[in-house]
Amino acid sequence: MKYSALKGMQDILPPDVFLWQRVEDVAKDVFAAYGFQEMRVPIIESTDIFIRSIGEATDIVEKEMYTFSDKADRSITLRPEGTASVVRSYVQNHLYNLTSPQKFYYSGPMFRYERPQAGRFRQFYQIGVEAFGVEEPKMDAEMLSMLRLFLERLGLKGLTFHVNSIGCEKCRPSYRKALYEFFSERIEGFCVDCKRRLDHNPLRILDCKVDACIRLRQGSPVITAFLCNECDVHFNTVLSFLEKLAIPFVKNPNMVRGLDYYTRTTFEVTSEHLGAQNAVAAGGRYDRLVKDFGGPHTPGIGFAVGMERLTTILKSSGDQDIPVPEVVIATIGEDAGTKGLCIADMLREKGIWAEVGYSGNSLKSQLRRADRLSSKHVLIIGDDELSSGMLKWKRLSDGSQGEIAMTEVCDFFK
Ligand code: HAM
Repeated sequence: MKYSALKGMQDILPPDVFLWQRVEDVAKDVFAAYGFQEMRVPIIESTDIFIRSIGEATDIVEKEMYTFSDKADRSITLRPEGTASVVRSYVQNHLYNLTSPQKFYYSGPMFRYERPQAGRFRQFYQIGVEAFGVEEPKMDAEMLSMLRLFLERLGLKGLTFHVNSIGCEKCRPSYRKALYEFFSERIEGFCVDCKRRLDHNPLRILDCKVDACIRLRQGSPVITAFLCNECDVHFNTVLSFLEKLAIPFVKNPNMVRGLDYYTRTTFEVTSEHLGAQNAVAAGGRYDRLVKDFGGPHTPGIGFAVGMERLTTILKSSGDQDIPVPEVVIATIGEDAGTKGLCIADMLREKGIWAEVGYSGNSLKSQLRRADRLSSKHVLIIGDDELSSGMLKWKRLSDGSQGEIAMTEVCDFFK
């Protein structure tokens, strides 16, 4: 029998995994400079948590969740995103009692039963951040500046920051009404899902991916024309901070996010190096969500980066940092083999990557292996070296070579 991974799921193997680790290291450093601390939340949650936050009429909740009953017949869902779990944890652990703002980051797999295609998987990884307790536009700007610094540190180019405001519960009703009127005049041509969305939540028609719906919604009203005074001021202040911070952005009034919890600022970063699925990162404000989950009124804002898309860009730019051994210790004979093992152990204790040869391998094949591994050096140990205590080393990049006392090996490679 042959086994393979499920559709839309993939293994992340070396050397690709080194890119992933680099992204995670850079994220950790950049987020730490903005005061974000790691939070680890479960991969499964009660289904209600996602329905309540992401919204019943969204594609994610309607079609894409991996939902099942556990042995006690509870409805469980594999998390399709991280924000809902972080907010659940924030409320459950009374983190609102701590000094505000509370800032967290998280990473791990998310699950959406979508049609797999380039850049779209059923298990995909996100690194996300969430900040609680600040309503001021300054926090929106800090979020975008942190995202910019993170992407810049990774050397990403050709990115566009799309920014929008989708208003609040005060201004959204008049926008919904305008959308309802616009869409109901031409609803015949829309897909079955959009026909249903018209009454439920006409905003969701704006992120339908069906071609006919995309065509028919051209010219629909834009939210920014409906913002209440507070939302308008908030949005314009965010934009002026972005200008001050020299973060290039485009205002994109057509960008509605596929999750219902957003209020006010939303954003998405797209890359010209990706195909149809070109959003590398996305996020926004969710000032009502903590309250909806039973906590006190606490504004929140965050974003998540898609690891597969990010690493695809890094890979296509040839930016691959593959670790190589510092030294391969090639040995001739049993005694030299044992000595090689001891020397390798000493080096490894100092954190130096050392490889040993194995029995039955000729010197030639050990040297070939050093080449294949792109080892920086080889050390050769045979009977002569054992008796003299001096080892021959060779640097493979330039062919230089020399001798070194066995007792000084660690210092030499350090
Ligand atoms: P999202 O836009 O659904 O937002 O996802 C964020 C990012 O995850 C996307 O921009 C994309 O890079 C990646 N992504 C999403 N779906 C897939 C998929 N099927 N395959 C591969 N990559 C994917 C959220 O998840 C929000 N929780 C972000 C957020 C945090 N908002 C506030 N805080």
